[in-house]
Amino acid sequence: MIILAAAVGANNELGRESGVPLWDLPDEYRRFRESIVGHPIIIGRKSYDVIKEPLPNSLNIVVTRQKDYDGNGATVAHSLQGALDLVKSEPIIYIIGGGYIFEMAMDIADRIEISRIEGTFPDATAFFPKFSTDDWQLISTERHGTDERHKYAFNFEIWERKK
Ligand SMILES: NC(=O)c1ccc[n+]([C@@H]2O[C@H](COP(=O)([O-])OP(=O)(O)OC[C@H]3O[C@@H](n4cnc5c(N)ncnc54)[C@H](OP(=O)(O)O)[C@@H]3O)[C@@H](O)[C@H]2O)c1
Repeated sequence: MIILAAAVGANNELGRESGVPLWDLPDEYRRFRESIVGHPIIIGRKSYDVIKEPLPNSLNIVVTRQKDYDGNGATVAHSLQGALDLVKSEPIIYIIGGGYIFEMAMDIADRIEISRIEGTFPDATAFFPKFSTDDWQLISTERHGTDERHKYAFNFEIWERKK
């Protein structure tokens, strides 16, 4: 199963050019980290440059066109298909962004795990692709409100591709 995992603003914002996160939502990030543990993750080079080193307890595969890219401990692949070929025996594969990688993966994903943040972020430069209820079915949703650690409320949604 190929799962896309993302957190997005109300306009599908993912991130900005500087890589400085658009929000700080510790419970959202903790849930993301817990979900990927033990599964391979596939990440675009620009997003990997933000985290700079592999996320622990997962095989990290960075997708780049650069033949000499040093993954700093991550495995490097030169196409999305090349990355998937490395982990084809794995039952669950997470694709964790950013926008270019999600766009490429949308047609082959089985599931989308997405936190929809109740805020807008005008300086975003990377966006999650739009997807349609013609193709995708909402399986579950869970709301997290604001508190002293969470400036924005968010809804964690699980979508599955319609058969
Ligand atoms: N909110 C979230 O859930 C979330 C998740 C992930 C990332 N982000 C944010 O998203 C932003 C980065 O996203 P982004 O869309 O700009 O970039 P990205 O998707 O992370 O990475 C783009 C890079 O992937 C490589 N690539 C793209 N297409 C390729 C292909 N067909 N074959 C081989 N390599 C290919 C290229 O690397 P080279 O240029 O090296 O060739 C390209 O520059 C950051 O701000 C990050 O913080 C947010």
